[in-house]
Amino acid sequence: VPRTVPRTSVRRPWTASAVQGWRQEIAVTIFCFIVLAIATSVASWCPYAIAAVAAVLIWRRPNIRVRFQREAQLRSTSRRLHAAMWNCSILGRDGNIPQVKKNIQTPVGRRFLLRLPPGLHFELIEARAPEIASALGARQILVKAVRENAKYVELTQVNVSAFPKILRTELVSVPHTDLWQRFPLGLSDDGFPVLIELPEHNLLIGGEPGSGKSVALSTIIGVAALDPRVSLTLLDGKQVELAAWKDVADHFVGPDQVDAVRVLEQLRTLMDHRYEQLLADRRRKIEPDGSFGLHVVVIDELAFYLRGGKKAERDEFAELLRDLVSRGRAAGIIVVAATQKPSHEVVPTFIRDLFSFRLAMRCSSVDASDTILGSGWAAQGFSAATIEPSQRGVGLLLAEGGVPILLKLPFLSDNDIDTIALRAAQLRGSR
Ligand SMILES: Nc1ncnc2c1ncn2[C@@H]1O[C@H](COP(=O)(O)OP(=O)(O)OP(=O)(O)O)[C@@H](O)[C@H]1O
Ligand SMILES: [Mg+2]
Repeated sequence: VPRTVPRTSVRRPWTASAVQGWRQEIAVTIFCFIVLAIATSVASWCPYAIAAVAAVLIWRRPNIRVRFQREAQLRSTSRRLHAAMWNCSILGRDGNIPQVKKNIQTPVGRRFLLRLPPGLHFELIEARAPEIASALGARQILVKAVRENAKYVELTQVNVSAFPKILRTELVSVPHTDLWQRFPLGLSDDGFPVLIELPEHNLLIGGEPGSGKSVALSTIIGVAALDPRVSLTLLDGKQVELAAWKDVADHFVGPDQVDAVRVLEQLRTLMDHRYEQLLADRRRKIEPDGSFGLHVVVIDELAFYLRGGKKAERDEFAELLRDLVSRGRAAGIIVVAATQKPSHEVVPTFIRDLFSFRLAMRCSSVDASDTILGSGWAAQGFSAATIEPSQRGVGLLLAEGGVPILLKLPFLSDNDIDTIALRAAQLRGSR
């Protein structure tokens, strides 16, 4: 498949595109000359009077000035992109380049909606992204397909990194949360927040040691804890990572496999009760206004519970977890688990495959990234092994969009966690 249509098929000269790009400026100039000609024929002082009125209008109405400036900037950035595509020969079969239909400023640069000429499609534009970035002198070009219409693609010009060294969490200042609503898990590389909806989903987090898994779990626990209708069960193979949330959790289990099995058994009983309740209420799944709330089960160091201890305990834990993840959805039980590498020796595939949402923090190998996100993503250019080791808290999230998104998660210091946990405990005290 040719990556672009050969240049011989070009019909439209570059001048046509230049006229198209400058059309508003040309129109304003012609309009001014017409006004000047008419004004001069009326009286010799008339052009001066019109110029004075125009000057006063522009001085008294700053919004006209601002609008003109913004429009000029929009057209100039669109022109630069059009020129870059001409120079890179990104042409359709009719010899035309993609046309900018929308152009907005974003926190990291600009976002364009492009209409593609016949012969071009999303994959071709995505493959040429590095060339466009170099022609524009941009840091990076991100290309996203528009699901509703394949004739369009969204192209983001990234001029500055969206990721600060430390991203602060908003949770320290919000009075409470609502886990039924989508909440911002982090900041994507195009500068916009990444929203995620946890009800009816389970999330698996993987990544090398020190990549930021436990910090990511703290963000999720913080959101759940600040919603007083949500109950929490925490299992922490390291004990110290989640201990600060102990007071807001219904159950807290440290590195104790027998205790972990006991708590999962209690959760299974809870799940069965919830299904009986749903039956009595003639409902098929939990609703925000239902008779019980969401229950979030967070497991840090999942490998500890699935690999350590006696075989009988391990198997029992695995079976209880499988049951919880597979049947918990409609009963409002959300499982969020983190482990370094969820390979089949550590997390049996019959459990791993049940997690619909995946978050791959930095991995040391492409293979490890595919183990977390699912096989085949690295070949398509989504590998958490390409994240730099210094970029802590950066990962690839595979959730609602169906395509992994690169994002930076907020960092929660011990003080932040204490502040959030204290407020959550107060909210729960008045539950
Ligand atoms: N979002 C973040 N922003 C900035 N720094 C972070 C972020 N997340 C983690 N870090 C840094 O990385 C360190 C390790 O993070 P964390 O304990 O979450 O790693 P982990 O993946 O759970 O490691 P392990 O597998 O050893 O448990 C933190 O102490 C912090 O310094
Ligand atoms: Mg950890």
